[in-house]
Amino acid sequence: MVTLRSLSPDDARALTRVYSGASIRYTTGEPLTLDQAHDKIRKALARAAETPRAQWSWSILHESDVIGLVSLRRRAPATGTISYILRDDSWGNGYATHAVHQVVTVAFTSAGLDRLEAMHHPDNPASGRVLAKAGFVRVGTADRDTRTGALPYELYALEGAGT
Ligand SMILES: CC(C)(COP(=O)(O)OP(=O)(O)OC[C@H]1O[C@@H](n2cnc3c(N)ncnc32)[C@H](O)[C@@H]1OP(=O)(O)O)[C@@H](O)C(=O)NCCC(=O)NCCS
Repeated sequence: MVTLRSLSPDDARALTRVYSGASIRYTTGEPLTLDQAHDKIRKALARAAETPRAQWSWSILHESDVIGLVSLRRRAPATGTISYILRDDSWGNGYATHAVHQVVTVAFTSAGLDRLEAMHHPDNPASGRVLAKAGFVRVGTADRDTRTGALPYELYALEGAGT
């Protein structure tokens, strides 16, 4: 289905295509420029080099095509958050679910986390389906500032098998 590989500076142009069209409707609202993509990758790689490691970012590949980005962030010693975005022409194939599954495995093994959280825009039920299919449970809402004011984002959590 899809494979993950560490984000690389070579992915900048592909990221500008990921962060465009319908994919930004419920996320940033703005397409990503090439400069912004380079900056985003630089920051992600800098965070990936921290000890203890606080961030992992992967490009999502379908065959050799970069179709998205998925990130894991440590928010507390054993709690992390997952976020993901896929290029709009790749939606509806189960790719996000497959990518999230793989990140959940890393989170509860090599990253040493025991709880994961994720949230999505209230008008973006597809993202809630992705989380539910990956085993997350809806735990409520969390207010988040957006371009149009504060909105109650849907909040999901997943506990590791050992907890
Ligand atoms: C959310 C997103 C990642 C989904 O990617 P995807 O590869 O299409 O996801 P999948 O194919 O794995 O699963 C999508 C599920 O949502 C369902 N879905 C799609 N549109 C839906 C809608 N309007 N209402 C309810 N469910 C919907 C699909 O039917 C599928 O569920 P199913 O397998 O039970 O049928 C993609 O739309 C995206 O990148 N959105 C913008 C970024 C974003 O919102 N990220 C989430 C915040 S971290």
